[in-house]
Amino acid sequence: MDPLDLPLTTDRLVLRAYRESDARTHLPIYSREDVSRFLLQEPWTAEVAETEIDKRLPRTGLETDSRALALVIETADGLDSLEGSRVIGDIAIWLADDSEEKAEVGWILDPAAAGHGFATEAAIAVLNLAFDHYGLHRVFAQMDARNTASAKLAQRIGMRQEAHLRRDWWSKGEWTDTLVFGMLSSDRQTA
Ligand SMILES: CC(C)(COP(=O)(O)OP(=O)(O)OC[C@H]1O[C@@H](n2cnc3c(N)ncnc32)[C@H](O)[C@@H]1OP(=O)(O)O)[C@@H](O)C(=O)NCCC(=O)NCCS
Repeated sequence: MDPLDLPLTTDRLVLRAYRESDARTHLPIYSREDVSRFLLQEPWTAEVAETEIDKRLPRTGLETDSRALALVIETADGLDSLEGSRVIGDIAIWLADDSEEKAEVGWILDPAAAGHGFATEAAIAVLNLAFDHYGLHRVFAQMDARNTASAKLAQRIGMRQEAHLRRDWWSKGEWTDTLVFGMLSSDRQTA
């Protein structure tokens, strides 16, 4: 796997590696109840933010020891819909099941930036990277079945729903259903 040239840019976004200061940029997003509702974690405190960002700093590529790429989503300068350049979320992809060719993707967006297609734009860029740069065979996403925004996003970027697992995950005091979405490199060739 070849090393990556970061940041990635899309029409409206910059996807960059983490910095230590992202504990500060991420805390207002991850400390929200509505953001963490379907995540495995509780809302972050400032202390948790420091620890979590420290874990993310080395995730600079699937080819690194971390086997993961964690990217901060920033709006590019000059967008009409949001003022200035700022952090609006993050997206990550990580190799799964000891495989070099299968990876899971996950996304989080500041609710203040929702509804503009920013997560879609970031996710398409990461799928392109996964298949075109890294040459992966399969990318998948899993989410709480009640997380309709996340499921819609997976569908919007062309992933197919492959499973609805019933009460398979113990989360925040209850058994929850999980949806699994997947995309294969061969899906893209036939699309
Ligand atoms: C999952 C999540 C990232 C989806 O965010 P989102 O804002 O719905 O997704 P997008 O930024 O791609 O925006 C899509 C919406 O913008 C609209 N839109 C506007 N302009 C658009 C454009 N240029 N391209 C695509 N969609 C556009 C779409 O129609 C869609 O609206 P709808 O929800 O009414 O159908 C967000 O809900 C989230 O962070 N949730 C909390 C964390 C979480 O649960 N993460 C997933 C864990 S599995």
